[in-house]
Amino acid sequence: MASSNAQIAIIRIFRRGNISYVFGLGVIFMVIYLCQYSPDSTDSSDSAVPSPLTDVFENESKSVFKYHIRELSEPRCQANLSMSDTKDFSSLPNAIQDFLHYRHCRSFPMLLDLPAKCGGANRSREVFLLLVIKSSPLNYDRREVLRKTWAKERLQNGVWIRRLFIIGTEGSGHRKLKINKLLKAEQDDFNDILQWDFNDTFHNLTLKQTLFLQWLDRRCPNARFLFNGDDDVFAHTDNMVTYLQGLDDNDGSKHLFTGYLFQNEKVVRWKGSKYFVPELIQESKTYEPYCGGGGYLLSGYTASVINRVSQAIPIHPIDDAFMGICLSKAGLSPSSHIGVRTLGLNMPSKGADHSEPCYLRELLLVHRFLPADMYLMWKQVHDPHLKCSPTYKLR
Ligand SMILES: *[C@@H]1O[C@H](CO)[C@@H](O)[C@H](O)[C@H]1NC(C)=O
Ligand SMILES: *[C@@H]1O[C@H](CO)[C@@H](O)[C@H](O)[C@H]1NC(C)=O
Ligand SMILES: *[C@@H]1O[C@H](CO)[C@@H](O)[C@H](O)[C@H]1NC(C)=O
Ligand SMILES: *[C@@H]1O[C@H](CO)[C@@H](O)[C@H](O)[C@H]1NC(C)=O
Ligand SMILES: *[C@@H]1O[C@H](CO)[C@@H](O)[C@H](O)[C@H]1NC(C)=O
Repeated sequence: MASSNAQIAIIRIFRRGNISYVFGLGVIFMVIYLCQYSPDSTDSSDSAVPSPLTDVFENESKSVFKYHIRELSEPRCQANLSMSDTKDFSSLPNAIQDFLHYRHCRSFPMLLDLPAKCGGANRSREVFLLLVIKSSPLNYDRREVLRKTWAKERLQNGVWIRRLFIIGTEGSGHRKLKINKLLKAEQDDFNDILQWDFNDTFHNLTLKQTLFLQWLDRRCPNARFLFNGDDDVFAHTDNMVTYLQGLDDNDGSKHLFTGYLFQNEKVVRWKGSKYFVPELIQESKTYEPYCGGGGYLLSGYTASVINRVSQAIPIHPIDDAFMGICLSKAGLSPSSHIGVRTLGLNMPSKGADHSEPCYLRELLLVHRFLPADMYLMWKQVHDPHLKCSPTYKLR
């Protein structure tokens, strides 16, 4: 059983919760222990299937992979200080002031790139599900456990799953350089990091998203589907593949944007909230329909449409709400997850243990897990001897 520490909120794919950057040492040691304990043998039979595609990807990734820190002398996007003259500006929370000062900055140098992640633009159609995971520089332990669990790159049910972490920078000066070295070391070993040179903060998540979509357009334009989510969710990627393969249009060429749907969600006007957005940024009182940023699925087609329309839309500080604004501009709607229903994401009977593998086995996504719990749960969910009582038949 998972420890009772697992903080799980079922059903709602919450907006990103408070991301705690620092984990207890105990947890870190635990993860390191677990990682060493089970080297790469976590997965089902599928992962062992040899394929020429693997070789090509690996050869290309290794040879083309680049790492470069741009000279600090490169001109940087400057803060728009005339924003400060706006009425009531000084009464806004610091993070919002900062957001407004840099809102116009939409292009940042890449520190870590993966030009061959999808085997080149032409071959990118061979990528069925691209996992695009929002992570932060210091979340090393989360990335480590995801690589061994649901985000493992593999052939699943005959189609390829690939993994990317999208990351900004942390701190400044020496500290920033040191943390960048950690990411470079991870990149050398795993080839799964895209990093841009901007401060990785909550209000820069939209920037991260738009930079990623531009990257996708250039490097991996034909990937069929994408999962976009946080690094602390349990995403049942086996079930996602099953769901996506079962769609009438399962080649990614039609509109799909689905997850936990928010409709008529009110804009938060309370200054103490992390989600506070002043009239200065958004006048209307409600958001366009959008899917919670904890995790949603979209097609390659929809990603390219969003990339196109997003360029003409001012950056909004809440990244999932921004996706909703883009969809609306494009005349598209997000949907509530059909697969969520068919796969049985219903409220379990009262008192049921939410970290119970029988419950999770039928889901697509659950928020949120500590790394060690994630590891254990992925193992348990895949245990062929797992016996589930009828209570957990969620159909
Ligand atoms: C990948 O590289 C290895 C050795 O460097 C080589 O033997 C193999 O043929 C390459 N695979 C492909 C598909 O190019
Ligand atoms: C800077 O802010 C002012 C005041 O809001 C605005 O009029 C101007 O267009 C902004 N400049 C840029 C480059 O965004
Ligand atoms: C990609 O495909 C197009 C059309 O099939 C072809 O013209 C082009 O040469 C290909 N590019 C590469 C790099 O293989
Ligand atoms: C990024 O944040 C750090 C503090 O975490 C700050 O010192 C630095 O000036 C910021 N960088 C930019 C370009 O705003
Ligand atoms: C976003 O990143 C830029 C570049 O590092 C930084 O100057 C800015 O302060 C960040 N914005 C927020 C709202 O943190």
